[in-house]
Amino acid sequence: MSAKLYYPATSRNREPLLEAVHEVFAASTRVLEVASGSGEHLEFIAPHFPNCHFVPSDIEPKCLDSVAERARECPSNNIATPVRLDASDGPWPNGPFDAVFNANMIHIAPWAACQGLLAGAAQCLRPGGYLCLYGPFMRSGSHTAPSNAAFSEDLQRRDSRWGVRDLDEVERAAVPHGLELAWVKPMPANNFTVAFRRD
Ligand SMILES: C[S@@+](CC[C@H](N)C(=O)[O-])C[C@H]1O[C@@H](n2cnc3c(N)ncnc32)[C@H](O)[C@@H]1O
Repeated sequence: MSAKLYYPATSRNREPLLEAVHEVFAASTRVLEVASGSGEHLEFIAPHFPNCHFVPSDIEPKCLDSVAERARECPSNNIATPVRLDASDGPWPNGPFDAVFNANMIHIAPWAACQGLLAGAAQCLRPGGYLCLYGPFMRSGSHTAPSNAAFSEDLQRRDSRWGVRDLDEVERAAVPHGLELAWVKPMPANNFTVAFRRD
């Protein structure tokens, strides 16, 4: 039986996401993905960068199984066997990586996962490498759309430690790790792709 998971939102956002990260990944030979989920993002993205080696990861065994199956079937053969990684406390794979990519995790996890992601990415990125985050963000203390406010309330009802993060707060938390916000790209459905550059 197939272990593949299917996330409808992931197949919808994969093309704009590819466009958003294209410049970073095209200049990369090693990319770590944190919270790969179903593996659908890498399955789509990896064949566009045949010279880049992608290392997927997740905290959930069922996600690791799904990603592993997609990695085995990847025609460009550039997705590694996924590794178990809890962004909150590692252990982080050996770097250096040119980029660390994380989609749709920091709002569906305690703030400690975001803090751990910033610390871990800084640890395993090469100087000048990028941490790319995709998902909904508040800007300067406000939601960017009513649907994001409702989504955040729903998340907080499910787990009071979850919720849409304010990009200003993420930016402040990144500074001590030598990560500077380099760019912010608005995406469909009131999401953003943002990149932090490691000094
Ligand atoms: C909404 S899914 C997003 C999956 C995928 N990145 C995507 O955009 O389709 C959130 C993912 O975060 C993972 N996750 C949650 N907490 C985590 C943590 N502390 N460390 C690593 N992964 C985590 C979950 O297992 C899940 O795969």
